[in-house]
Amino acid sequence: MEGVIDAVTRDLLTRTPGFDWVVTEFVRVVDARLPPRVFYKHCPELEADTPPATPSGVPVTLQLLGSDPSALAANARQALRLGATGIDLNFGCPAKLVNRHDGGASLLRDPRRVHAAVAAVHEAVGDAIPVTAKIRLGFSDRRLALACALATQDAGARRLVVHGRTRDEGYRPPAHWEWIGRIRQRLAIPVVANGDIWTLEDYWKARTLSGCRDVMLGRGALADPRLAARIRHWQVTGERLPATPWQARAAILAEFAATQRRGLPERVVVSLLKQWLNHMRQGDAEAGRRFQALKRITQLDALLEGLAAPTDETALTSQPLDA
Ligand SMILES: Cc1cc2nc3c(=O)[nH]c(=O)nc-3n(C[C@H](O)[C@H](O)[C@H](O)COP(=O)(O)O)c2cc1C
Repeated sequence: MEGVIDAVTRDLLTRTPGFDWVVTEFVRVVDARLPPRVFYKHCPELEADTPPATPSGVPVTLQLLGSDPSALAANARQALRLGATGIDLNFGCPAKLVNRHDGGASLLRDPRRVHAAVAAVHEAVGDAIPVTAKIRLGFSDRRLALACALATQDAGARRLVVHGRTRDEGYRPPAHWEWIGRIRQRLAIPVVANGDIWTLEDYWKARTLSGCRDVMLGRGALADPRLAARIRHWQVTGERLPATPWQARAAILAEFAATQRRGLPERVVVSLLKQWLNHMRQGDAEAGRRFQALKRITQLDALLEGLAAPTDETALTSQPLDA
């Protein structure tokens, strides 16, 4: 997820079993072949001598976003040369800036363009590595949902993730899991359900309504960093673990900050930490309380102290510590 899930976050999220693969933030392709440093920035995992994976061994797929088939092909070749073992194409991004420049979900208005983009990348990398795609249900309505999904398959995609909303629906609930099921029924490649999976119950409903074997977690994985592990535990044992307790979340945030501060300015780390805490507010009252109490803090150590404080002590920090 762009601006949110970088290599440090991927590492932290995959330390407990649950994720089968993860995807980088999108690499924006306009018209030129990008230099290696852009790929390494988005996917530092490429710098190892082994296939790109998180430290715990979960494979990392590189995502490209663009609309020009030949530029996408050139960058896919570049990614392959640098060691990518999978290329995912983003046709889901709803951002106005991206769509105005004819990227992301804007291609869903014309399935032929989706086909051309996937086919160009598939031809560029051959069968050396899989090409996969991610779509929404359409741009402003769902009329072309199936046609776009079929276009990815016909052009050589080996797997399709479907976010169960149109571009115009943004992130407004609900995600239409039953629509993902309609697409799955017509495709031969694996279809993965995505959108609004925050809890074990959501996971179950998304699977049941879509009929998909696999789901993709977005914001839900940030809200509860152990959601994938809880899903896996439920699958394996039948036992439903409760939502991850605050102290475990705080420990993950502390480790995130400790790693990020080695490479980034303090103010950037503060803002990234608050961003993740903000995501944790969904479904976790304690994270919500801490966010309110700590949101004006600008010093990293003060913020970390506020996160680590025992639950009944955070009331004390509701005054900005460094004001
Ligand atoms: C801040 C933000 C950044 C995102 N960046 C990407 C991205 O780079 N690539 C991508 O495929 N999807 C991206 N997404 C979409 C998510 O992967 C996911 O499809 C969407 O949020 C719906 O799933 P969710 O309800 O589980 O979050 C992003 C979403 C958000 C909120």
